[in-house]
Amino acid sequence: MSSGFDPADSERIRKDFPVLQQQVRGKRLAFLDSAASAQRPQVVLDAMNALYTQHYANIHRGVYDFSARTTAAYEAARKTCQAFLGAREPGEIVFVRGTTEGINLVAESYLRPRLEPGDEILITHLEHHSNIVPWQLLLEGTGAVLRVVPINERGELDMAAFAELLSPRTRLVSVAHVSNALGTINPVREIADAAHARSIPVLLDGAQAVPHLPVDVTELDCDFYVFSGHKVFGPTGVGVLYGRRELLESMPPYQGGGGMIESVTFEKTPFAAPPERFEAGTPDIAGAIGLAAALDYVEEIGRERIAAHEHALLEAATDALAEIPRVRLIGTAEERASVLSFVLEGVHAHDVGTILDGEGVAVRAGHHCAQPTMDFFGVPATTRASFALYNDFEDVEQLVAAVRKTLEIFD
Ligand code: ALA
Repeated sequence: MSSGFDPADSERIRKDFPVLQQQVRGKRLAFLDSAASAQRPQVVLDAMNALYTQHYANIHRGVYDFSARTTAAYEAARKTCQAFLGAREPGEIVFVRGTTEGINLVAESYLRPRLEPGDEILITHLEHHSNIVPWQLLLEGTGAVLRVVPINERGELDMAAFAELLSPRTRLVSVAHVSNALGTINPVREIADAAHARSIPVLLDGAQAVPHLPVDVTELDCDFYVFSGHKVFGPTGVGVLYGRRELLESMPPYQGGGGMIESVTFEKTPFAAPPERFEAGTPDIAGAIGLAAALDYVEEIGRERIAAHEHALLEAATDALAEIPRVRLIGTAEERASVLSFVLEGVHAHDVGTILDGEGVAVRAGHHCAQPTMDFFGVPATTRASFALYNDFEDVEQLVAAVRKTLEIFD
């Protein structure tokens, strides 16, 4: 792995994020909740501001200069996403509202027309609710069923069970690249190979991977990949669904409206080719442009370096918390990214979160929209610290000191 950041890099990067320049409750802000939603660098805000102040217009419609410039910027953003994900062509990039909408789109448009009674969808015990509930909604009344790959006590997938659960009735495997609750990095290339050996397509939920690891959909050999802009330092309300071209072409529209048609009559409406087929209505133009600026920012720093830096932070925080009595780490997988989940014996996660807040440390406390994962570990909630490229070792020290203080209060 390449080396991460030196202190000067960290200082410069932190300065790129206006929101991190303030104090919270009179303390330096240690923002450790990027798994829920990350902060934005100034360049992202500038890119969106430039659009709105210089040439904003609707896209794919106007013949005038502003519209042509905005269309060009929107389509350039698609190309940025294509390059970032290693997709073969821009047409494989569909702008959606976020990971959740991307998964729902695949459920409704790819799977619903193919699903028959007795069919199976294979997910894992590590999934976020957004990779559970859309399948449950889809399955209702179809006679098809959900199958779940179990995990071990470290929070790693049971790959032997996974192999056994692949069946002639499996129609799709849908797996998180990185678990949002535990940080486990799943062996997704191995999963794709095993599924493809049986001609089963694979969807990867990349929401927690894209901000932290190099991701290349061609190398991963997945069929669908989804992620959210707001977790990768872009705006809220925009995300990406990557789909293999032949699969997208085989899928009917997800929603009807303007922009997704060839022509419309009351008798018949032939649909546009992907990706426009899946982008009905005026899309989040500024969101796509802001997202592209965020991806450029990440690329400029370097995804290998980001991964190395965050790995060092995660190791330091894990080692320090493991030494504190009454701390139980939840999720200790060999391969982990960004996330450190823990419980303090005798203290509810919400109380931990509140005391940490008083120390300027922002974390998420709760079930992290992954209740089955919490149930597996026998806890209703954890406290979750999640690291991003703008965090540094001072954040780790602040977290550890705040956890120690919490235990003193709840002695
Ligand atoms: N999916 C987000 C999280 O893990 C909201 O916190």
